[in-house]
Amino acid sequence: MRRAVYPGAFDPITNGHIDIIERSARIFDEVIVAILLNIEKQPMFSIEERIDMIRSVVKLDNVRVDTFEGLLVHYAVAQNAEVIVRGIRAVSDYEYELQMALMNRRLEPRLETVFMMRAEGYSYLSSRLIKEVFMLGGSVEGLVPGLVEQRMRAKQDARTQRQ
Ligand code: PNS
Repeated sequence: MRRAVYPGAFDPITNGHIDIIERSARIFDEVIVAILLNIEKQPMFSIEERIDMIRSVVKLDNVRVDTFEGLLVHYAVAQNAEVIVRGIRAVSDYEYELQMALMNRRLEPRLETVFMMRAEGYSYLSSRLIKEVFMLGGSVEGLVPGLVEQRMRAKQDARTQRQ
């Protein structure tokens, strides 16, 4: 049983994340999409909302969604995972990802980090940029699933009403 953990904030899940989840689900027996608790002080979506969105848009039998706090390597070992999956976009991601992978290896040599390249069309996507574009009135169609776009709109409407 080859189990992999795909960690991140997923605030919200993007088509780039989904691309990596689908690729890893073809390679590993089980993939755990692991949402880090409390990564951002002001997330757009609560943890429950993020879990719900991921479960709604990723319908693969060997993928499950979970949350974790503390060190990723502790979580991965507790889950009996052998692999940490990270998507890598451009060269600019490499340095940070290398640091994390080497630190994680130092902390837990039994775990291997596997980097995957997204489909070219999604290589520039990040949740941060998508939120910024959306908040400033730009279209995010095709960058996140339709359901996520709807939830983002609902958030914005609720915010406008409160003001
Ligand atoms: O979505 P992100 O921001 O790219 O995800 C970053 C994440 C969650 C993978 C990273 O911040 C992480 O693993 N945090 C858990 C704490 C930890 O283990 N820190 C040491 C990493 S070397």
